[in-house]
Formats: sequence, structure tokens, C-alpha cells
Amino acid sequence: MTRIVRTRAELRTALGPAARPIGLVPTMGWLHDGHRALMARARSENATTVVTIFVNPRQFGDPADLARYPRNEARDLEICEAEGVDLVFAPSVDEVYPPGFDTTVTVGAIGRPLEGAARPGHFDGVATVVSILFGLVRAEHAYFGQKDAQQVAVIRRVAIDLAIPTEVIACPTIREPDGLAMSSRNVHLSPPERAAAPVLWRALVAAREAWARGERSGDALRVTMRVALAGEPLATAEYVSCADAATLAELEHVEGSALLSLAVRFGTTRLIDNEPLG
Ligand code: PAJ
Repeated sequence: MTRIVRTRAELRTALGPAARPIGLVPTMGWLHDGHRALMARARSENATTVVTIFVNPRQFGDPADLARYPRNEARDLEICEAEGVDLVFAPSVDEVYPPGFDTTVTVGAIGRPLEGAARPGHFDGVATVVSILFGLVRAEHAYFGQKDAQQVAVIRRVAIDLAIPTEVIACPTIREPDGLAMSSRNVHLSPPERAAAPVLWRALVAAREAWARGERSGDALRVTMRVALAGEPLATAEYVSCADAATLAELEHVEGSALLSLAVRFGTTRLIDNEPLG
């Protein structure tokens, strides 16, 4: 039976007698199979599984993007129940950021390129809320999706730098049968945009195949992705990247491993995806 709590105090009480280790899965709701995979992994590795559902205003730059973020708590709770989640923390904005709240976690260099450049303040908002959730739940393990590769890198950095004892665990990206990475934002795509959206994955696969054939030029791999995206009239590329997997700095030459990533707009909907090399 999944229990739902809404306040910090109720969460503390519920966690007191909870069996350890605790596995934490932070989400913004509108749960899909990507979230479910994180819950299943958490459940398999922990005695207690905690899911948080909180659409965090501080990580949205654009108020319109926040306003239209999809929500369906009843359905989310059914999914948590089906995944055997023990506890759901679904707080209000005031519960997470009570009156007088006055601290922001400022992310350094790892948060500057890619999503950080496209969405100023986004990672500070993510780092701040995740630090609060880590402090509240004090889980042994926390599970995040590789789909948001830079987010994982940011959260790992925050956990190390702020001496947070929770271990950050990254899980593979879950995709639709046509390759589109599952995302709460996919619901905003019109039918023609939805049909066009697998071009992100096709662009990544094209670059991965070029790399597998021996291409090591960062520019050539970025051009391969741009060419694939240009073939889809509904897609507008925001960035394409072939970067150092650790620093996320753009690579002139791929030596060992690298991260291919891209952000693409379909009308007003912005999608991201990535694929590691090596
Ligand atoms: P949200 O977008 O709801 O995602 C919650 C978690 O699910 C993140 O770790 C994300 O990377 C993961 N996820 C999303 N789509 C996935 C997919 N297709 N395959 C695998 N994992 C996937 O990311 C956030 O919320 C927020 O920034 C949060 C970390 C909760 C902080 O507010």
C-alpha cells in the first residue's frame, strides 16, 4: 500500500520507522515508463522506496512552461502503487519553500554549457530542490535518468561538494518503440510533431554510427546530427553537442569517451536527448 504525505513533518514521522536502505526517486509527476524504471530499480535495491512528486517552480525560467507542465496526481499515485512504492511525498510549493526561505545552491562549471546555457538558472533550481529532498529523505540511494545526463552530472557534483551521503545512481534512458525518449513533455506534441520527434534519436544514431566507423572529429559528428535534424521540417535545432563526458566541454577530437547530446524545438515544445560514446 502506497502512503502519501504532504508535509515535512509527516514525512519525518513516516520515515522514522522505515526499513533501510531507503531508495529515493525525485520526480515532477506525470509519470511514465522512464520514471517507472527508476522506481523498479529503487525497489529492487532498497527496503523502502520513496518517490517525490513536486513541480519545482525554481527550475523553470519561463512562467508559461511552468503553467502548462502536465499534472495528474491521481494517475501518478496509481503508478506508484503498481510499482510497489512505499511512500510518496507530494508537497505544496510553500512546504518546500516556506516563508523566509532564502538559500540557493549555485552550480559551477558543470552546469554552464548545454542546458545551463539554454536555460539560465535551471540547474541552480534543480540543485536547490534536490538538496532539500536529499536532506529531508536522507536516503542511502537516489535514482536519476541518464536521459537528463547533465542533470545527473550536476547532482553528483552537488552531492560530493555538499557532503551529502546519498549515493547518486544513474539509470538508462527508456524509449518509445520508435526511439523517442519518454518525457512528460511529449504530451504537448501535436500528432505531426509526435511523428517527427524520433528525429532526435535518428540524429544520435547517425552520429553514433559515424563514430563506430571511425569518425573522431567533433565537428563532423555535430554536422552529422545537424544534417539529420535538417531533414525534418518540423524540427528546429537549438544545440547539438559532442562533448567531453566528464566536463561537457565541446570536443574538437573524440579520444576516449564522449557525450552526444541535442536540444530540439517542435513548435513550443522543447525536447532533449543524448547518447554516450565509448
Ligand atoms: P522529471 O522530469 O519528472 O524526471 C524525474 C526523473 O526521471 C529524472 O531523474 C529524469 O532523468 C528521469 N527520466 C525522465 N525521463 C526518462 C526516461 N525516458 N528514461 C529514464 N529516466 C527518465 O528531472 C526532473 O523531473 C527534475 O529535474 C527533478 C530531478 C525531479 C528535480 O526537480
